[in-house]
Amino acid sequence: MAKTNIAVLGAQWGDEGKGKIVDMLTPHFATVARYQGGHNAGHTVYVQGTKFVLHLIPSGILHPGVSCVIGNGVVIDPQALFKEVDELARMGVDVDGRLLVSEKAHVILPYHRELDVLSEARRGERRIGTTSRGIGPAYEDKIGRRGIRICDLLGDRDALAEEVRENVSARNRMILDSTLDWKPLFDQVVAFGERMRPWVADVSLHIAQTMKNGKHVLFEGAQATLLDIDHGTYPFVTSSNASVGGVCTGLGVPPKAIGGVLGVAKAYTTRVGEGPLPTELSGELADRLRESGQEYGASTGRPRRCGWYDAVVVRYSARINGLDGIALTKLDVLDGLPEIKLCTGYKTATGTITEFPADLRLLVGAEPIYETLPGWSAPTKGVTDFDQLPVEAQQYIRRLEDASGVACAIISTGSDRMETIVRKDSIVSGWLD
Ligand code: GDP
Ligand code: IMO
Ligand code: MG
Repeated sequence: MAKTNIAVLGAQWGDEGKGKIVDMLTPHFATVARYQGGHNAGHTVYVQGTKFVLHLIPSGILHPGVSCVIGNGVVIDPQALFKEVDELARMGVDVDGRLLVSEKAHVILPYHRELDVLSEARRGERRIGTTSRGIGPAYEDKIGRRGIRICDLLGDRDALAEEVRENVSARNRMILDSTLDWKPLFDQVVAFGERMRPWVADVSLHIAQTMKNGKHVLFEGAQATLLDIDHGTYPFVTSSNASVGGVCTGLGVPPKAIGGVLGVAKAYTTRVGEGPLPTELSGELADRLRESGQEYGASTGRPRRCGWYDAVVVRYSARINGLDGIALTKLDVLDGLPEIKLCTGYKTATGTITEFPADLRLLVGAEPIYETLPGWSAPTKGVTDFDQLPVEAQQYIRRLEDASGVACAIISTGSDRMETIVRKDSIVSGWLD
């Protein structure tokens, strides 16, 4: 396959290692563009022992000369963005001149964070387990056609004052006894706009020009397919389209611009927050995966729930996104386990299912159907050649590919850029030529 624009997105419930994969692929692209989500994302990249955690800024930013785009589909908390820019500057990464922020992106304001926390408290037992970053309420305002966009911060001041005033009074009606004053908030958003002004751009045009010049774009997903507002485990999802459809709407690029789709999946499964996780483990085995995989949220520090690899989930993701290949991460975390399980279906009260259901009630009490494979004792950590992997690890990968219906184009054996296997003659090697 010829070199092309590719989307890199999560095939499970997030935190699959998208940041690492995007970072290692970035040198082959001119632009990296985020299409949805907000600073609920936490993408970790290690470069020679130095840790970077990106939330809003694309994980391509660590490579000088690459332009990094935040699309209209992203919701932006300006304070979170400034903090990230400042932190990168402190670590020697300059974003000026190559960070582009969509003028159509919606803004997260402090009251969105409050509404997020309040809404979770009101749900009680039925809470989603959000990141409390105001993501859901900001998307609600966008879809409700009352949101404030980046271009509004830079436009007519009277019109902006009117919008802020209306939003604040709507919020005051929603929160009992609340008397938030609109004027200090207005002054604050004006200042936000001024700091952001040099980065604001027509990102759809920037991407179109990049492609016209014969250069290539990497579309970076946040969250994951099973957290997608339409295709995920609703209502235990985030509020945007993390799956491939989000690329077009979230950046203003046509479907034909996406030449390939790479799904990132862990060699096991994790999830943060509430909602079903059919292969969830408890006890010693869960602790073992959590500790050796350092499974704690990159944004909130919450311990991640851990379970075996679920081929039903990845096969579903492959269908929704049209995955051309998988980047399988964290294989090394399974090193030393005597045996490894892989789920191929669920036994439910009404029979066996092998396709991921829409109605989550079907999953209550469902029992995963497992295949058990032998583990391996020799370490896979840092291995860069498939043939150098223990034979049992090779066997596990082959079975996982078969059960998921997609080949592993990349296998990650450690958190560093270099700790990676790119399969020869795989779809990815074609994309990178
Ligand atoms: P993202 O949200 O999908 O970008 O993933 P996160 O950064 O939230 O979580 C993935 C974690 O796994 C990060 O701490 C990475 O440094 C780490 N990681 C990525 N790939 C590997 C790998 O192959 N092995 C190990 N041990 N850690 C990895
Ligand atoms: P990355 O990009 C894992 C989860 C939250 C919660 C649900 C809704 O690092 O993979 P939200 O704050 O978005 O309204 O919360 O989605 N969630 C994530 N889980 N990784 C993420 O991002 C996530 N972003 C949101 O835990 O269950
Ligand atoms: Mg993450």
